Amino acid sequence: MHLIQEIATAMMSPSKGILAADESQHTMQKRFALIGLEQNSENDRRYRNMLFTTAGIEHYLSGIILHDETIHQNSDNKIPFATLLSNLGILPGIKVDQGLTSLESSPDEKVSIGLEGLADRLEEYYSLGARFTKWRSVISIGDDLPTQDALKKNADVLAEYAEVAQSKKMVPIVEPEVLFDGKHTLARSGEVLRDTLQTLYKALAEHEVTLNAMILKTSMALPGKKSDTPLDPSAIAEETIAALRDTVPADVAGVVFLSGGQMAKQATSNLNAIAKLGVQSWPITFSYSRAIEEPVIATWRGDEANRIAAQNVLLQRLEDNVAARNGIYVPK
Ligand code: 13P
Repeated sequence: MHLIQEIATAMMSPSKGILAADESQHTMQKRFALIGLEQNSENDRRYRNMLFTTAGIEHYLSGIILHDETIHQNSDNKIPFATLLSNLGILPGIKVDQGLTSLESSPDEKVSIGLEGLADRLEEYYSLGARFTKWRSVISIGDDLPTQDALKKNADVLAEYAEVAQSKKMVPIVEPEVLFDGKHTLARSGEVLRDTLQTLYKALAEHEVTLNAMILKTSMALPGKKSDTPLDPSAIAEETIAALRDTVPADVAGVVFLSGGQMAKQATSNLNAIAKLGVQSWPITFSYSRAIEEPVIATWRGDEANRIAAQNVLLQRLEDNVAARNGIYVPK
């Protein structure tokens, strides 16, 4: 498979999704703290080994996003993780942004960094087997946030990244995450999602990014975590799809959702409600980290004795989310 359009299409295979296993060491520290496990490179490796050697994941996953640390590591059997995944028919991807920094014009907001040296890093990742990339920016909702400057600066960085990725024959997953921290309403979240995506697609057009060789990774429109509004999957689905339909061009290869800190089953129910709204211009699937991995980590606890139990939890989370992307998820 050579054309990046073909890779993008394969990433959006029917009845599959993309696992975001690209947590930074800092994030792994937070995840492992919950199970009292020390974060170090060997524990990160053991954890990813457990995930990636789960028998049957290839039936549910078209791709897995790796972190820089992971793409340089090997399985227990000394096979580089990217090779192990390719051998299973799972496309290896790589997170390539290098985190966030405060925005000069608005210190409460962030802009993502990592463009310097990006082309060279992509060449190395390609040689290690990665065929797609991911870049995350964050947009915060507050009384006066997001500012136009935050929307524009993040859109410009994302678009420049996508242009570089495509020039290196790698599919960009472009992720402007609208955070759901705060007290905002569902309608306000939908409005910010619209503004974010409108600004993003203008920047992508300016950078002449090929739409059928890029994937949008987006948040759902959600009422803020601190608002009193209960999460209603059908209202969330309506608001989310309305915002996407207004802003995401039909040529885009696919739309994948992040889970953003929702409870695992909530993220699945919301995806199911989105799928039940019917076929859209672009295929839709999941690209969750926490909503898949949190229950897996809680079962694994760093102990080899829990490996099979944790792998069974992973398979169940994948099966449920694949059912949800097809609109046939029934919560148990
Ligand atoms: P969550 O599903 O935990 O939001 O993570 C997805 C992701 O890739 C964030 O960059």
